[in-house]
Amino acid sequence: MISLILMGIDETKVLKIAIDGPAASGKGTVAKMLAQRLGIICLDTGALYRGITVHFMNSKVNLGHESEVNSALENLNLRVCHQGGSTLVFLNDKDITEHLHDIEVSATAYKVAVIPAVRKKVRSIQHEIACCQDLVCEGRDITSVVLPDAQFKFYLTASLEERARRRLNQERIQNPGITLEQVKQGIHERDVADMTREISPLVHVSDAVLIDASHISAVEVVQRMLDIINDKLKNL
Ligand code: DC
Repeated sequence: MISLILMGIDETKVLKIAIDGPAASGKGTVAKMLAQRLGIICLDTGALYRGITVHFMNSKVNLGHESEVNSALENLNLRVCHQGGSTLVFLNDKDITEHLHDIEVSATAYKVAVIPAVRKKVRSIQHEIACCQDLVCEGRDITSVVLPDAQFKFYLTASLEERARRRLNQERIQNPGITLEQVKQGIHERDVADMTREISPLVHVSDAVLIDASHISAVEVVQRMLDIINDKLKNL
């Protein structure tokens, strides 16, 4: 499949598939499944922002203090590994992947993601990974800013109600008392922050295929993406 894609498109280029979408749209699951079907790596860029958030929390960085942020970024020792479609994050050589979705990290990551110096740092990590290997990369600004030259671009979304319903089961593991309304409110706040920030806001770029996953499963979304990829190859 991959060699076909590479032959069809450009042998000298690595294959880049970019997926953006709002929180809880299912893009993480879909990106992982698509990467596994294609036998390539999957980069969850949210994990990078979450990893830096853990670093800032450990170092008790005041997010409003530019000098504290900059010095914490200078001391950042963050590494990622790709395993079975998952992005593992190591901070100071310690695997912190299981903490990336802790409630406090989730509640802070979107505030960290608006800091220009953080985005610059993450962009350089992303480019290092994406420069020389085939990958599926998912996040908020992948189709627009990080990989605008990706051969395939998708914007995955779902209704707020559906996204909240899906996220509720995950959040109840850590917070059994949480209600659907609270999850909905949390997702809505993150949507507003991601879509209205000044740098690299979440946008649906015109050359990204829109997929609404409100009423279809992750398996169906992946099949739709594979059909689009195959169709493009046939028409080359
Ligand atoms: O996808 P996620 O929920 O794991 O992302 C965590 C945070 O990082 C979220 O607030 C959005 C932000 N993010 C971003 O700004 N740009 C990306 N490419 C990926 C994530």
